[in-house]
Amino acid sequence: TSGPTHEPIDPVRYIANRSSGKQGHAIAAAAAAAGARVTLVSGPVAIADPAGVTMVKVESAREMKAAVEAALPADIAIFAAAVADWRVAGAADEKIKKTKSGPPTFSMVENPDILAGIAGAASGRPPLVVGFAAETEKVIEHARAKLARKGCDLIVANDVSPETGVMGGDRNTVHLVGRDSVETWPELPKDEVARRLIAAIA
Ligand code: CTP
Repeated sequence: TSGPTHEPIDPVRYIANRSSGKQGHAIAAAAAAAGARVTLVSGPVAIADPAGVTMVKVESAREMKAAVEAALPADIAIFAAAVADWRVAGAADEKIKKTKSGPPTFSMVENPDILAGIAGAASGRPPLVVGFAAETEKVIEHARAKLARKGCDLIVANDVSPETGVMGGDRNTVHLVGRDSVETWPELPKDEVARRLIAAIA
């Protein structure tokens, strides 16, 4: 039960996704290398903390939201996390045991949208808010809709279909989607995507 909000969590099992955190960590490292003062709020990952950043480690979407809010004010906010859209309603306090009646069913509740909350904040909105879009089809069209829906200034869109190897991999092909612009970059190492993104933002 680490993290700022100490919410109840199932002691044994959890639901996660295939994101490695590599792109977000690379962006934090590139921003620090470019001279920014960086706070990196990260979910559970199997990679080392980047040099020169303040790390805040969280385990759930609600903890991440609280940690992001605590890290403000900021000049620039970049949202690269693959946040779980839903969580299990009423997580068990004890290990759920097998029973003769078969596997349990879970109902899900929606997690808060951290990016939309910060981008739409009435006060304290960072002047530049950059989101990501993880898509498996109609990448640019969906990213553009996300930009408008979430109220951010720029979206880094990537295709996370299994055949791209982006989720968990070391390379990424991204489109920088603005309100009236799209820039498509070639496939690059995630570190290089990060450096170019920080240069574009600067
Ligand atoms: N995001 C967030 N909080 C959430 C979900 C997503 O802050 N609960 C942010 C991500 O960090 C990313 C952006 O919103 O910057 C888009 O995330 P993505 O997973 O691509 O989109 P979804 O919000 O899940 O929308 P959809 O279901 O339409 O794909």
